[in-house]
Amino acid sequence: MIHLHDIRKHFGTHEVLKSVSVTIPEGQVTALIGPSGSGKSTLLRCVNLLETPDSGELTIGAETLRFTPGRHPERHAVQRIRQQTGMVFQNFQLFPHLTAIQNVMEGLVTVKRWPRERARARARELLDKVGLRDKADAWPASLSGGQQQRVAIARALAPEPQVLLCDEPTSALDPGLAAEVVAVLSDLASEGMTMLMATHDLRLASQVARQTVFLEDGAIVEAGPSQALFTQPRDARTRRFVTTLTG
Ligand SMILES: Nc1ncnc2c1ncn2[C@@H]1O[C@H](COP(=O)(O)OP(=O)(O)O)[C@@H](O)[C@H]1O
Ligand SMILES: [Mg+2]
Repeated sequence: MIHLHDIRKHFGTHEVLKSVSVTIPEGQVTALIGPSGSGKSTLLRCVNLLETPDSGELTIGAETLRFTPGRHPERHAVQRIRQQTGMVFQNFQLFPHLTAIQNVMEGLVTVKRWPRERARARARELLDKVGLRDKADAWPASLSGGQQQRVAIARALAPEPQVLLCDEPTSALDPGLAAEVVAVLSDLASEGMTMLMATHDLRLASQVARQTVFLEDGAIVEAGPSQALFTQPRDARTRRFVTTLTG
């Protein structure tokens, strides 16, 4: 389980997250929706500590970190939290000078200090899982966006994180390629991978995510089962936003 409690984050005078509290249940997908600028990426980055919250509490599994303004959290605790998360970005962020399989192996070899052969075997399994067994030796530039994103998902899964964080994983892709990525994420969901994903993709949010959280202007307006949130939103602001997604 991942639990965020009273998380606040400022950039200068702008309060980007205003006391956000949310529980991400284990073994399920939680979608994070909201207008551009509402704080979705910042919230995801706070979960893997790419950003340090100003205050509040973050729990992932057995690890809890409390944040205090002006104080850096303890480095080892940050590493322990980070190792339990995998991140998938909108623009893939593969290493262009490494092949698909080398991208997937990289963290296992450099961070986890696995021997190359063991890392290669794990990377092969993961490429197989995302349907790219025959692209192991391809360079990122020769792959379609959908294939690159699937390599990025394999890379994020390599260290067996407790949670996969996805920041608009399909929004840089044409509909056909986005569908490949939705299919992979939906397989992972059915295997019980815990995921938190910011998305504007209605298929991801309404079909793959069991729970949806609607963020507006740095605060959670409404959260609950996706089905209910999309069909019978309680708050007028949610209703308005959901209408923009469904068109
Ligand atoms: N590193 C940063 N420095 C200053 N402002 C930032 C930074 N990152 C995000 N912001 C601001 O925080 C707000 C929320 O951004 P973001 O989390 O990216 O929203 P979303 O992902 O929902 O579009 C925006 O107003 C954005 O400009
Ligand atoms: Mg964003």
